Amino acid sequence: MRVTTVDLDHPDLETLRREAAGCTNCELYEPATQTVFGAGPESAWLILVGEQPGDREDIEGAPFVGPAGRVLDTALERAGIDRDEVYVTNAVKHFRFERQGSRRIHKTPGVTHIRACRPWLDGELASVRPQALATLGATAAKALFGPKFRITAERGNVLDWEGYQLVPTVHPSSILRGPAEKRAEAMDALVADLEVAARLRP
Ligand code: URA
Repeated sequence: MRVTTVDLDHPDLETLRREAAGCTNCELYEPATQTVFGAGPESAWLILVGEQPGDREDIEGAPFVGPAGRVLDTALERAGIDRDEVYVTNAVKHFRFERQGSRRIHKTPGVTHIRACRPWLDGELASVRPQALATLGATAAKALFGPKFRITAERGNVLDWEGYQLVPTVHPSSILRGPAEKRAEAMDALVADLEVAARLRP
């Protein structure tokens, strides 16, 4: 495996995006349609870090544009955060999946995939230099804090991560996966966590 090195002293999102499009740092690039790089303004005050692109994102080439993205958009709006003011990305930038007939079923990325993709996330952070971060789901949080991180214990807290203020919260798709009668409550909790992040806006 050849892992890209990114020039963190002179980062430039467009150069990074172009380079990431040809990423072969791990095997996930082979079956995936394309690299799904982050999206949003370089001036963003907040970076949201998800897990990896899903089926829709893999096809469209943009993060959080499928069902989880719709939940995220609603939660952001309710928390008073405009999606256009934030940079949205993922810990892993290729869709990891298993084929079941004609369907592509999401498969959680492993440590090697997260590690191989890390130069791109570091480059995005160095380019955008946000005031705050929020991780969406356990995989994204563990990608930054390590495998012992417990999302249930830490969600909604403002943590220090490498000098950034970071608010971990659940993955928007967990709202869709949970029992129907608990959805409103789960959504309220996601909104409450994002409101904590919103209060970090400069
Ligand atoms: N789930 C993620 O973690 N990221 C996306 O971009 C879409 C779904």
